[in-house]
Amino acid sequence: MLRGALKTVGSRSQCGVEQLISALRGVSSSSQQLSGSGRTHASSCTDGDPPKILITGGLGQLGVGLASLLRRRFGKNNVILSDIRKPPNHIYHSGPFIFSDILDSKNLRELIVNNNISWLVHYSAVLSAVGENNVALAKEVNITGLHNILDIATEHGLRVFVPSTIGAFGPSSPRDPTPDLCVQRPRTIYGVSKVHAELMGEYYHYRYGLDFRCLRYPGIISADSQPGGGTTDYAVQIFHAAVKSGHFECNLRSDTQLPMMYIDDCVRATLEFLEAPADTLVSRTYNINAMSFTPQDLTQEIQKVLPDLRVTYNVDPVRQAIADGWPMALEDSAARRDWGWKHEYDLPELVQTMLTHITPGNQVAQAN
Ligand SMILES: NC(=O)c1ccc[n+]([C@@H]2O[C@H](COP(=O)([O-])OP(=O)(O)OC[C@H]3O[C@@H](n4cnc5c(N)ncnc54)[C@H](O)[C@@H]3O)[C@@H](O)[C@H]2O)c1
Repeated sequence: MLRGALKTVGSRSQCGVEQLISALRGVSSSSQQLSGSGRTHASSCTDGDPPKILITGGLGQLGVGLASLLRRRFGKNNVILSDIRKPPNHIYHSGPFIFSDILDSKNLRELIVNNNISWLVHYSAVLSAVGENNVALAKEVNITGLHNILDIATEHGLRVFVPSTIGAFGPSSPRDPTPDLCVQRPRTIYGVSKVHAELMGEYYHYRYGLDFRCLRYPGIISADSQPGGGTTDYAVQIFHAAVKSGHFECNLRSDTQLPMMYIDDCVRATLEFLEAPADTLVSRTYNINAMSFTPQDLTQEIQKVLPDLRVTYNVDPVRQAIADGWPMALEDSAARRDWGWKHEYDLPELVQTMLTHITPGNQVAQAN
């Protein structure tokens, strides 16, 4: 009933509504959302100010797009990008940027305190294919780095968002579709570290009241940023090859079906989920889904616009083995019910939008 009432007011950030809901929840002993400690940090808008947001690993495929959306919503100076790389000029001049290595917890703590950070978006990670080639690095960044983030976020009462992935499932999970709750036995260090992140974040939520939020992203497709070494990278690279040379060599089998999402849907989901009143969230970790396709499906859709595109296959056994154990589609009805998730891009819109962005004069702008 409460959720229905909330939807009539709107699902975006509503400080007054959030406070009302919290007050009502406070007198409801049946609330299943209350944390084990009986408190969840209210870090978004308690004093009416916009949140002050830090994005770690912000120079990767997703960080710049998310920063741009968050800056439009909360103001340019309220969103700080950070990474361990030097940003290109256009990103450096687009808003605040600070060097930060998530493995240096003292520096990270100083950065959060000195900038009065209230929301932390934790994007630093070593992705699936890169992680299999450097397990020690993936363990350090994805597990030790996450511990630093959770400890500091708890100390300072932050709202913290950590993305998970389809890679958090494995060959023994149901694959089509994969529900929110099921067996999770991934066989990559990336997947293992993301299951660890989901469980640790939820543990900190129930144990310490940390406002931990996690979405399992599908493979993300973007025109103006490069993928960072994941198994779904082909679905970005094919567009650039199609426009540039008309030939693409695909490293996955033609019938490999995986869940995918256009970046605008991904960053909008992230903002909407971050803004969702805490008490509407029945879970702290949600699947989000948009479309699923194979390399063959994607090729055929691109060929409707660029009929001369030729795709050949040179399968990378490491990536293929990873993809064969991943979901073919994610079941995301809980996200749609609890906080109003709705994707906008299906395969035809995705292809039209990507090809519009990627013209010969407008090649991918790498953030490195
Ligand atoms: N891109 C996708 O398709 C996808 C899908 C599912 C989940 N995700 C998740 O979303 C997040 C962002 O993904 P992305 O594609 O932008 O990743 P990416 O690989 O493109 O970028 C990751 C960034 O982390 C930075 N980084 C590495 N080590 C660091 C350290 N010690 N300290 C600080 N920064 C460090 C890197 O320099 C890089 O810029 C990741 O957590 C990833 O697991 C991405």
